[in-house]
Amino acid sequence: MRVGVIGTGYVGLVTGACFAEMGNDVTLMDIDEAKIQALLQGEVPIYEPGLEQMIVRNVAEKRLHFTTDLQTAIENSFIIFIAVGTPPDENGCADLSQVFAVAEDIGRAINTYKIIVTKSTVPVGTTHKVREIIASVTDKPFDVASNPEFLKEGNAIDDCIKPDRVVIGIDDVRVGEILKELYGPFVRTGNPIMVMDTCSSEMTKYASNGLLATKISFMNELARLCEKVGADIEMVRSGVGSDPRIGPQFLFAGIGYGGSCFPKDVEALTQTGLEHGVQLRILESVQEANRGQRAHFCQKIMDHYGNETLAGRLFALWGLSFKPRTDDIREAPSLDVIRLLLEKGARVRAFDPVAMGSAGRILGDSVEYAPGNYECLEGADALVIVTEWNEFRHPDFEKIRELLKEPVIFDGRNLYRHDKMVERGFKYYSIGRSAIC
Ligand SMILES: NC(=O)c1ccc[n+]([C@@H]2O[C@H](COP(=O)([O-])OP(=O)(O)OC[C@H]3O[C@@H](n4cnc5c(N)ncnc54)[C@H](O)[C@@H]3O)[C@@H](O)[C@H]2O)c1
Repeated sequence: MRVGVIGTGYVGLVTGACFAEMGNDVTLMDIDEAKIQALLQGEVPIYEPGLEQMIVRNVAEKRLHFTTDLQTAIENSFIIFIAVGTPPDENGCADLSQVFAVAEDIGRAINTYKIIVTKSTVPVGTTHKVREIIASVTDKPFDVASNPEFLKEGNAIDDCIKPDRVVIGIDDVRVGEILKELYGPFVRTGNPIMVMDTCSSEMTKYASNGLLATKISFMNELARLCEKVGADIEMVRSGVGSDPRIGPQFLFAGIGYGGSCFPKDVEALTQTGLEHGVQLRILESVQEANRGQRAHFCQKIMDHYGNETLAGRLFALWGLSFKPRTDDIREAPSLDVIRLLLEKGARVRAFDPVAMGSAGRILGDSVEYAPGNYECLEGADALVIVTEWNEFRHPDFEKIRELLKEPVIFDGRNLYRHDKMVERGFKYYSIGRSAIC
Protein backbone atom coordinates (compact mmCIF):
# COMPACT_ATOMS: atom_id res chain seq x y z
CA MET A 1 0.00 0.00 0.00
CA ARG A 2 1.07 3.59 -0.43
CA VAL A 3 1.33 5.20 2.99
CA GLY A 4 2.13 8.76 4.02
CA VAL A 5 3.12 9.84 7.52
CA ILE A 6 3.00 13.52 8.43
CA GLY A 7 5.37 14.26 11.30
CA THR A 8 8.57 12.26 11.62
CA GLY A 9 9.15 12.36 15.36
CA TYR A 10 9.43 9.40 17.72
CA VAL A 11 6.11 8.00 16.52
CA GLY A 12 6.05 8.98 12.85
CA LEU A 13 9.57 7.82 12.11
CA VAL A 14 9.18 4.47 13.82
CA THR A 15 5.73 3.65 12.45
CA GLY A 16 6.72 4.83 8.96
CA ALA A 17 9.83 2.65 9.01
CA CYS A 18 7.77 -0.33 10.22
CA PHE A 19 5.15 0.12 7.48
CA ALA A 20 8.00 0.14 4.95
CA GLU A 21 9.51 -2.95 6.58
CA MET A 22 6.22 -4.73 5.81
CA GLY A 23 6.62 -3.95 2.13
CA ASN A 24 4.57 -0.78 1.87
CA ASP A 25 5.74 2.27 -0.05
CA VAL A 26 6.05 4.98 2.61
CA THR A 27 6.58 8.73 2.34
CA LEU A 28 7.56 10.47 5.56
CA MET A 29 6.98 14.22 5.67
CA ASP A 30 8.03 16.83 8.22
CA ILE A 31 8.20 20.63 8.25
CA ASP A 32 11.55 20.45 10.06
CA GLU A 33 13.98 20.91 7.17
CA ALA A 34 17.03 19.99 9.24
CA LYS A 35 15.43 16.71 10.31
CA ILE A 36 14.52 15.73 6.76
CA GLN A 37 17.94 16.77 5.46
CA ALA A 38 19.58 14.59 8.11
CA LEU A 39 17.35 11.65 7.21
CA LEU A 40 18.10 12.10 3.51
CA GLN A 41 21.79 11.85 4.38
CA GLY A 42 21.22 8.65 6.34
CA GLU A 43 21.36 10.26 9.80
CA VAL A 44 18.62 9.25 12.21
CA PRO A 45 17.76 12.22 14.46
CA ILE A 46 16.59 10.15 17.48
CA TYR A 47 17.99 7.18 19.37
CA GLU A 48 15.77 4.12 19.21
CA PRO A 49 17.30 0.63 19.19
CA GLY A 50 17.11 -1.01 15.74
CA LEU A 51 15.62 2.05 14.04
CA GLU A 52 18.67 3.17 12.10
CA GLN A 53 19.26 -0.25 10.53
CA MET A 54 15.58 -0.48 9.57
CA ILE A 55 15.61 2.95 7.96
CA VAL A 56 18.83 2.28 6.04
CA ARG A 57 17.46 -1.05 4.79
CA ASN A 58 14.17 0.38 3.60
CA VAL A 59 15.69 3.47 2.01
CA ALA A 60 18.06 1.16 0.08
CA GLU A 61 15.06 -0.92 -1.04
CA LYS A 62 13.39 2.34 -2.15
CA ARG A 63 10.35 1.76 0.06
CA LEU A 64 11.02 4.71 2.37
CA HIS A 65 11.12 8.32 1.18
CA PHE A 66 11.53 11.62 3.04
CA THR A 67 10.22 15.01 2.06
CA THR A 68 9.32 18.43 3.42
CA ASP A 69 6.73 18.84 0.67
CA LEU A 70 3.24 17.92 1.84
CA GLN A 71 1.86 17.86 -1.69
CA THR A 72 4.37 15.15 -2.64
CA ALA A 73 3.52 13.13 0.45
CA ILE A 74 -0.22 13.34 -0.27
CA GLU A 75 0.08 12.53 -3.97
CA ASN A 76 2.31 9.53 -3.19
CA SER A 77 -0.05 8.08 -0.59
CA PHE A 78 -3.43 6.40 -0.29
CA ILE A 79 -3.49 6.22 3.52
CA ILE A 80 -2.13 9.27 5.35
CA PHE A 81 -1.27 9.17 9.06
CA ILE A 82 -1.12 12.37 11.08
CA ALA A 83 1.65 11.86 13.66
CA VAL A 84 2.50 15.40 14.73
CA GLY A 85 2.89 16.52 18.33
CA THR A 86 -0.01 17.22 20.71
CA PRO A 87 1.82 18.99 23.56
CA PRO A 88 -0.03 20.48 26.53
CA ASP A 89 -1.30 24.03 26.19
CA GLU A 90 -1.10 26.54 29.05
CA ASN A 91 -4.19 24.97 30.69
CA GLY A 92 -2.97 21.39 30.40
CA CYS A 93 -5.33 20.55 27.50
CA ALA A 94 -3.91 18.91 24.39
CA ASP A 95 -2.77 21.65 22.01
CA LEU A 96 -4.21 20.49 18.71
CA SER A 97 -2.87 23.31 16.57
CA GLN A 98 -0.34 21.05 14.78
CA VAL A 99 -3.01 18.44 14.03
CA PHE A 100 -5.50 20.99 12.73
CA ALA A 101 -2.88 22.82 10.64
CA VAL A 102 -1.92 19.53 9.02
CA ALA A 103 -5.59 18.65 8.43
CA GLU A 104 -6.12 21.91 6.58
CA ASP A 105 -2.94 21.44 4.53
CA ILE A 106 -4.01 17.89 3.66
CA GLY A 107 -7.42 19.17 2.59
CA ARG A 108 -5.80 21.65 0.22
CA ALA A 109 -3.41 19.04 -1.18
CA ILE A 110 -5.86 16.17 -1.74
CA ASN A 111 -6.06 15.16 -5.40
CA THR A 112 -7.94 11.80 -5.26
CA TYR A 113 -9.71 9.68 -2.62
CA LYS A 114 -7.59 9.29 0.56
CA ILE A 115 -7.96 7.86 4.04
CA ILE A 116 -6.65 10.23 6.70
CA VAL A 117 -5.82 8.66 10.04
CA THR A 118 -5.08 10.41 13.33
CA LYS A 119 -2.19 8.55 14.95
CA SER A 120 -1.28 11.38 17.31
CA THR A 121 -2.83 11.07 20.77
CA VAL A 122 -5.89 13.31 20.51
CA PRO A 123 -8.93 14.00 22.71
CA VAL A 124 -12.28 12.48 21.88
CA GLY A 125 -13.89 14.21 18.93
CA THR A 126 -10.65 15.35 17.27
CA THR A 127 -10.86 12.91 14.34
CA HIS A 128 -14.33 14.23 13.54
CA LYS A 129 -12.99 17.77 13.76
CA VAL A 130 -10.20 16.76 11.36
CA ARG A 131 -12.87 15.58 8.95
CA GLU A 132 -14.72 18.92 9.23
CA ILE A 133 -11.54 20.90 8.61
CA ILE A 134 -10.59 18.87 5.54
CA ALA A 135 -14.14 19.04 4.16
CA SER A 136 -14.14 22.82 4.58
CA VAL A 137 -11.31 23.20 2.06
CA THR A 138 -11.87 20.40 -0.47
CA ASP A 139 -14.67 18.68 -2.33
CA LYS A 140 -12.49 15.66 -3.14
CA PRO A 141 -13.62 12.36 -1.53
CA PHE A 142 -11.91 11.17 1.65
CA ASP A 143 -12.52 9.28 4.88
CA VAL A 144 -11.04 9.70 8.34
CA ALA A 145 -10.11 7.16 10.98
CA SER A 146 -8.42 7.04 14.38
CA ASN A 147 -5.51 4.71 15.08
CA PRO A 148 -3.76 5.60 18.35
CA GLU A 149 -0.21 4.44 18.85
CA PHE A 150 0.83 2.35 21.85
CA LEU A 151 4.57 1.97 21.22
CA LYS A 152 7.00 2.51 24.10
CA GLU A 153 10.16 4.47 23.45
CA GLY A 154 13.16 2.20 23.93
CA ASN A 155 11.18 -0.78 22.62
CA ALA A 156 9.37 1.03 19.85
CA ILE A 157 10.35 -1.18 16.90
CA ASP A 158 9.22 -4.36 18.62
CA ASP A 159 6.02 -2.75 19.88
CA CYS A 160 5.24 -1.48 16.43
CA ILE A 161 6.08 -4.65 14.48
CA LYS A 162 4.37 -6.94 17.02
CA PRO A 163 1.70 -4.83 18.73
CA ASP A 164 -0.31 -6.33 21.62
CA ARG A 165 -3.33 -4.95 19.85
CA VAL A 166 -4.18 -2.51 17.09
CA VAL A 167 -7.02 -0.12 17.82
CA ILE A 168 -8.84 1.34 14.85
CA GLY A 169 -11.66 3.86 15.12
CA ILE A 170 -13.86 4.24 12.07
CA ASP A 171 -17.15 5.64 10.87
CA ASP A 172 -17.28 3.47 7.75
CA VAL A 173 -16.71 -0.30 7.76
CA ARG A 174 -14.90 -0.22 4.39
CA VAL A 175 -12.20 1.98 5.90
CA GLY A 176 -11.86 -0.53 8.73
CA GLU A 177 -11.29 -3.33 6.20
CA ILE A 178 -8.54 -1.37 4.43
CA LEU A 179 -6.75 -0.56 7.69
CA LYS A 180 -7.10 -4.18 8.81
CA GLU A 181 -5.40 -5.21 5.59
CA LEU A 182 -2.57 -2.74 6.24
CA TYR A 183 -2.09 -4.10 9.76
CA GLY A 184 -2.57 -7.78 8.85
CA PRO A 185 1.19 -8.55 8.66
CA PHE A 186 1.71 -7.00 12.12
CA VAL A 187 -0.66 -9.39 13.91
CA ARG A 188 0.13 -12.72 12.30
CA THR A 189 0.50 -14.37 15.72
CA GLY A 190 -3.13 -13.63 16.46
CA ASN A 191 -3.04 -10.41 18.45
CA PRO A 192 -6.30 -8.56 17.94
CA ILE A 193 -7.18 -5.70 15.66
CA MET A 194 -9.99 -3.94 17.47
CA VAL A 195 -12.32 -1.95 15.30
CA MET A 196 -14.57 0.50 17.08
CA ASP A 197 -16.05 3.97 16.69
CA THR A 198 -13.57 6.84 16.54
CA CYS A 199 -14.56 8.35 19.92
CA SER A 200 -13.95 5.06 21.74
CA SER A 201 -10.66 4.61 19.90
CA GLU A 202 -9.47 8.08 20.92
CA MET A 203 -10.55 7.45 24.50
CA THR A 204 -8.84 4.03 24.62
CA LYS A 205 -5.42 5.65 24.27
CA TYR A 206 -5.99 8.10 27.12
CA ALA A 207 -7.55 5.40 29.27
CA SER A 208 -4.48 3.17 28.79
CA ASN A 209 -2.03 5.88 29.76
CA GLY A 210 -4.23 6.97 32.64
CA LEU A 211 -4.39 3.44 34.06
CA LEU A 212 -0.65 2.85 33.66
CA ALA A 213 0.16 6.15 35.37
CA THR A 214 -2.28 5.21 38.15
CA LYS A 215 -0.43 1.95 38.79
CA ILE A 216 2.87 3.81 39.07
CA SER A 217 1.55 6.50 41.40
CA PHE A 218 -0.23 3.92 43.54
CA MET A 219 3.00 1.98 44.05
CA ASN A 220 4.96 5.16 44.71
CA GLU A 221 2.58 6.22 47.44
CA LEU A 222 2.70 2.76 48.96
CA ALA A 223 6.51 2.93 48.80
CA ARG A 224 6.42 6.03 50.97
CA LEU A 225 4.27 4.22 53.49
CA CYS A 226 6.61 1.19 53.35
CA GLU A 227 9.48 3.46 54.35
CA LYS A 228 7.57 4.56 57.44
CA VAL A 229 6.33 1.15 58.57
CA GLY A 230 9.41 -0.90 57.76
CA ALA A 231 8.01 -2.86 54.79
CA ASP A 232 9.91 -3.40 51.56
CA ILE A 233 8.12 -2.23 48.42
CA GLU A 234 10.07 -4.73 46.28
CA MET A 235 8.64 -7.61 48.32
CA VAL A 236 5.20 -6.07 48.20
CA ARG A 237 5.50 -5.66 44.44
CA SER A 238 6.27 -9.31 43.85
CA GLY A 239 3.53 -10.28 46.28
CA VAL A 240 0.78 -8.29 44.60
CA GLY A 241 2.09 -8.71 41.05
CA SER A 242 1.72 -12.49 41.18
CA ASP A 243 -2.05 -12.06 41.38
CA PRO A 244 -3.15 -12.47 37.74
CA ARG A 245 -5.90 -9.93 38.28
CA ILE A 246 -3.18 -7.36 38.98
CA GLY A 247 -0.21 -8.57 36.92
CA PRO A 248 3.49 -7.87 37.46
CA GLN A 249 3.97 -4.95 35.09
CA PHE A 250 4.11 -1.26 35.89
CA LEU A 251 4.40 -1.86 39.61
CA PHE A 252 7.95 -0.57 40.06
CA ALA A 253 8.26 2.18 42.64
CA GLY A 254 10.72 4.89 41.74
CA ILE A 255 11.13 8.59 41.24
CA GLY A 256 7.84 8.97 39.33
CA TYR A 257 6.79 8.79 35.73
CA GLY A 258 7.97 11.25 33.08
CA GLY A 259 8.32 11.35 29.34
CA SER A 260 6.40 12.95 26.53
CA CYS A 261 3.19 10.96 27.08
CA PHE A 262 2.07 10.11 30.62
CA PRO A 263 2.30 13.59 32.17
CA LYS A 264 0.58 15.35 29.29
CA ASP A 265 -2.00 12.64 28.58
CA VAL A 266 -3.09 12.26 32.20
CA GLU A 267 -3.47 16.03 32.47
CA ALA A 268 -5.29 16.28 29.12
CA LEU A 269 -7.74 13.54 30.11
CA THR A 270 -8.35 15.29 33.42
CA GLN A 271 -9.05 18.52 31.53
CA THR A 272 -11.40 16.72 29.09
CA GLY A 273 -13.29 15.49 32.14
CA LEU A 274 -13.61 19.00 33.54
CA GLU A 275 -14.77 20.36 30.16
CA HIS A 276 -17.62 17.85 30.32
CA GLY A 277 -18.41 18.36 33.99
CA VAL A 278 -16.80 15.09 35.11
CA GLN A 279 -14.12 15.46 37.75
CA LEU A 280 -11.60 12.63 37.35
CA ARG A 281 -10.45 12.69 40.96
CA ILE A 282 -8.29 9.60 40.70
CA LEU A 283 -6.24 11.09 37.88
CA GLU A 284 -5.90 14.39 39.75
CA SER A 285 -4.42 12.44 42.65
CA VAL A 286 -2.21 10.40 40.32
CA GLN A 287 -0.60 13.60 39.12
CA GLU A 288 -0.22 15.02 42.60
CA ALA A 289 1.37 11.79 43.81
CA ASN A 290 3.76 11.86 40.86
CA ARG A 291 4.90 15.41 41.59
CA GLY A 292 5.22 14.49 45.24
CA GLN A 293 7.40 11.48 44.44
CA ARG A 294 10.04 13.60 42.74
CA ALA A 295 10.01 16.00 45.66
CA HIS A 296 10.23 13.05 48.08
CA PHE A 297 13.36 11.75 46.37
CA CYS A 298 14.98 15.18 46.42
CA GLN A 299 14.08 15.48 50.11
CA LYS A 300 16.10 12.33 50.83
CA ILE A 301 19.16 14.11 49.47
CA MET A 302 18.46 17.21 51.54
CA ASP A 303 17.79 15.18 54.67
CA HIS A 304 21.07 13.31 54.35
CA TYR A 305 23.00 16.58 54.62
CA GLY A 306 20.73 17.88 57.38
CA ASN A 307 21.49 21.48 58.15
CA GLU A 308 24.60 21.50 56.00
CA THR A 309 24.46 23.42 52.77
CA LEU A 310 24.64 21.71 49.41
CA ALA A 311 26.56 24.69 48.02
CA GLY A 312 29.90 23.62 46.64
CA ARG A 313 29.04 19.93 46.71
CA LEU A 314 29.37 17.89 43.54
CA PHE A 315 26.75 15.28 42.66
CA ALA A 316 27.35 12.55 40.11
CA LEU A 317 24.12 11.77 38.25
CA TRP A 318 23.60 8.53 36.35
CA GLY A 319 20.83 8.75 33.77
CA LEU A 320 19.22 11.74 32.08
CA SER A 321 16.61 10.22 29.76
CA PHE A 322 13.12 9.72 31.19
CA LYS A 323 13.59 5.96 30.82
CA PRO A 324 16.28 3.61 29.52
CA ARG A 325 16.97 2.94 25.82
CA THR A 326 15.86 6.37 24.62
CA ASP A 327 17.44 9.81 24.27
CA ASP A 328 14.12 11.49 25.07
CA ILE A 329 14.36 13.78 28.07
CA ARG A 330 10.94 15.42 27.80
CA GLU A 331 9.50 15.68 31.35
CA ALA A 332 12.36 13.53 32.62
CA PRO A 333 12.69 13.31 36.42
CA SER A 334 16.41 14.07 35.98
CA LEU A 335 15.51 17.65 35.05
CA ASP A 336 13.74 18.22 38.36
CA VAL A 337 16.53 16.65 40.40
CA ILE A 338 19.15 18.70 38.58
CA ARG A 339 17.11 21.88 39.00
CA LEU A 340 16.87 21.32 42.76
CA LEU A 341 20.56 20.58 43.17
CA LEU A 342 21.58 23.63 41.15
CA GLU A 343 19.14 25.85 43.06
CA LYS A 344 20.81 24.73 46.27
CA GLY A 345 24.17 25.76 44.92
CA ALA A 346 25.47 22.27 44.19
CA ARG A 347 27.29 21.21 41.02
CA VAL A 348 26.08 18.31 38.90
CA ARG A 349 28.14 16.05 36.68
CA ALA A 350 25.98 13.72 34.60
CA PHE A 351 26.39 10.64 32.48
CA ASP A 352 23.83 9.01 30.22
CA PRO A 353 24.59 6.40 27.56
CA VAL A 354 22.66 8.25 24.83
CA ALA A 355 20.78 11.28 26.17
CA MET A 356 23.61 13.74 26.86
CA GLY A 357 23.07 15.43 23.48
CA SER A 358 19.36 16.03 24.01
CA ALA A 359 19.93 17.02 27.65
CA GLY A 360 22.65 19.45 26.59
CA ARG A 361 20.19 21.27 24.35
CA ILE A 362 18.07 22.06 27.43
CA LEU A 363 20.55 22.24 30.27
CA GLY A 364 23.47 23.76 28.37
CA ASP A 365 26.61 24.10 30.45
CA SER A 366 24.75 24.36 33.75
CA VAL A 367 25.73 20.70 34.10
CA GLU A 368 29.05 18.95 33.40
CA TYR A 369 28.90 15.89 31.16
CA ALA A 370 31.15 12.90 31.79
CA PRO A 371 32.36 10.54 29.04
CA GLY A 372 31.58 7.44 31.12
CA ASN A 373 29.77 6.38 34.28
CA TYR A 374 32.98 6.02 36.32
CA GLU A 375 34.49 9.29 35.08
CA CYS A 376 31.25 10.87 36.31
CA LEU A 377 32.07 9.84 39.89
CA GLU A 378 35.56 11.28 40.32
CA GLY A 379 35.64 13.43 43.45
CA ALA A 380 31.83 13.63 43.72
CA ASP A 381 30.14 13.84 47.12
CA ALA A 382 27.49 11.28 46.20
CA LEU A 383 26.00 9.30 43.33
CA VAL A 384 22.39 10.00 42.33
CA ILE A 385 20.75 7.35 40.10
CA VAL A 386 17.82 8.63 38.09
CA THR A 387 17.40 6.30 35.08
CA GLU A 388 17.52 2.51 35.25
CA TRP A 389 19.83 1.86 32.31
CA ASN A 390 20.94 -1.79 32.29
CA GLU A 391 24.60 -0.76 32.33
CA PHE A 392 24.09 0.68 35.82
CA ARG A 393 22.75 -2.57 37.28
CA HIS A 394 26.04 -4.34 37.99
CA PRO A 395 28.73 -1.72 38.45
CA ASP A 396 32.10 -2.20 40.12
CA PHE A 397 31.13 -1.09 43.64
CA GLU A 398 34.73 -1.08 44.84
CA LYS A 399 35.56 1.39 42.11
CA ILE A 400 32.55 3.51 42.99
CA ARG A 401 33.74 3.67 46.60
CA GLU A 402 37.23 4.67 45.53
CA LEU A 403 36.04 7.39 43.17
CA LEU A 404 33.40 9.04 45.38
CA LYS A 405 34.49 11.31 48.23
CA GLU A 406 32.03 9.48 50.48
CA PRO A 407 30.23 6.18 49.81
CA VAL A 408 26.73 7.68 49.46
CA ILE A 409 24.20 6.63 46.83
CA PHE A 410 20.71 8.02 46.28
CA ASP A 411 18.99 5.47 44.05
CA GLY A 412 15.70 6.60 42.54
CA ARG A 413 15.21 3.27 40.75
CA ASN A 414 15.97 0.59 43.36
CA LEU A 415 18.71 -0.97 41.23
CA TYR A 416 20.58 -2.73 44.03
CA ARG A 417 19.84 -5.07 46.90
CA HIS A 418 19.59 -3.26 50.15
CA ASP A 419 21.41 -5.82 52.29
CA LYS A 420 24.29 -6.09 49.82
CA MET A 421 24.78 -2.35 49.84
CA VAL A 422 25.12 -2.44 53.64
CA GLU A 423 27.76 -5.14 53.33
CA ARG A 424 29.57 -3.04 50.75
CA GLY A 425 29.71 -0.16 53.19
CA PHE A 426 27.50 2.31 51.38
CA LYS A 427 25.00 4.76 52.76
CA TYR A 428 22.33 3.70 50.34
CA TYR A 429 19.04 5.53 50.01
CA SER A 430 16.41 3.93 47.80
CA ILE A 431 12.63 4.01 47.36
CA GLY A 432 10.19 2.26 49.66
CA ARG A 433 12.69 0.15 51.54
CA SER A 434 13.23 2.19 54.72
CA ALA A 435 14.94 5.54 54.93
CA ILE A 436 18.49 4.26 55.07
CA CYS A 437 20.32 0.99 55.59
N1 LIG B 1 6.63 9.44 21.85
C1 LIG B 1 5.90 8.40 22.22
O1 LIG B 1 6.36 7.48 22.88
C2 LIG B 1 4.44 8.31 21.81
C3 LIG B 1 3.77 7.09 21.95
C4 LIG B 1 2.43 7.02 21.56
C5 LIG B 1 1.79 8.15 21.07
N2 LIG B 1 2.47 9.33 20.97
C6 LIG B 1 1.78 10.50 20.42
O2 LIG B 1 2.19 10.66 19.06
C7 LIG B 1 2.24 12.05 18.73
C8 LIG B 1 3.62 12.40 18.24
O3 LIG B 1 4.53 12.22 19.31
P1 LIG B 1 6.11 12.25 19.08
O4 LIG B 1 6.73 11.87 20.35
O5 LIG B 1 6.43 11.49 17.84
O6 LIG B 1 6.32 13.82 18.80
P2 LIG B 1 7.61 14.53 18.23
O7 LIG B 1 7.60 15.89 18.81
O8 LIG B 1 8.79 13.65 18.41
O9 LIG B 1 7.33 14.61 16.64
C9 LIG B 1 6.37 15.43 16.06
C10 LIG B 1 6.88 15.83 14.68
O10 LIG B 1 5.85 16.52 13.97
C11 LIG B 1 6.47 17.51 13.19
N3 LIG B 1 5.48 18.52 12.77
C12 LIG B 1 4.90 19.50 13.50
N4 LIG B 1 4.06 20.22 12.73
C13 LIG B 1 4.10 19.67 11.50
C14 LIG B 1 3.46 19.97 10.27
N5 LIG B 1 2.60 21.00 10.15
N6 LIG B 1 3.74 19.21 9.19
C15 LIG B 1 4.62 18.19 9.27
N7 LIG B 1 5.27 17.84 10.42
C16 LIG B 1 5.01 18.60 11.51
C17 LIG B 1 7.56 18.06 14.10
O11 LIG B 1 8.55 18.76 13.35
C18 LIG B 1 8.09 16.76 14.73
O12 LIG B 1 9.14 16.22 13.96
C19 LIG B 1 1.79 12.79 19.99
O13 LIG B 1 0.42 13.02 19.93
C20 LIG B 1 2.11 11.81 21.09
O14 LIG B 1 1.30 12.00 22.23
C21 LIG B 1 3.79 9.44 21.31
